[in-house]
Amino acid sequence: MLRAIYPGSFDPVTKGHMDIIERAADIADELIVGVLQNKAKTPLFSVEERVTMLSEVTKNMKNVKIVPFEGLLIDFAQQMDAKVIVRGLRAITDFEYELQMSQTNRKLNSDVETIFLTTSLDYSYLSSTTVKEVASFGGDISQFVPKFVAGKITEKIRERGENKNE
Ligand code: PNS
Repeated sequence: MLRAIYPGSFDPVTKGHMDIIERAADIADELIVGVLQNKAKTPLFSVEERVTMLSEVTKNMKNVKIVPFEGLLIDFAQQMDAKVIVRGLRAITDFEYELQMSQTNRKLNSDVETIFLTTSLDYSYLSSTTVKEVASFGGDISQFVPKFVAGKITEKIRERGENKNE
């Protein structure tokens, strides 16, 4: 039984993340999407909101579970009894950080392997940060994030009065 973790901030989940979730869920028997609660950062969405959005957009994927975590990813992997960490690679610019992270994690616990899936070309340019930027100027984000998530982003930006066009 292969249990894998796909960790991230998911602030918010994009179609690029969805592509990795779908493909990783095809490989693993069980895929845990680990949502980082990073107290040092101020995300647009709280960890509860990010978990809710991910749960909604993965509700038809029977072997996918959404779980928030704090602290070290490698400790979370151990708690979940997961042997594999999955990360997406979009472009060469991701590589250095991902290599550093995977090697550090391997030093911390060599029983857990990191595997990389290359993001589909359709989404290789996409990031949560650019989605938030486009949305903050009132741009159309429907091609970048699932419909449910697009609604939540628009709502959040309106709520915070952060539409830079207004
Ligand atoms: O979506 P992101 O922000 O690229 O995800 C980064 C994440 C959550 C995978 C990474 O920041 C992480 O694992 N954070 C937990 C703390 C930790 O274990 N750091 C790695 C040691 S090198």
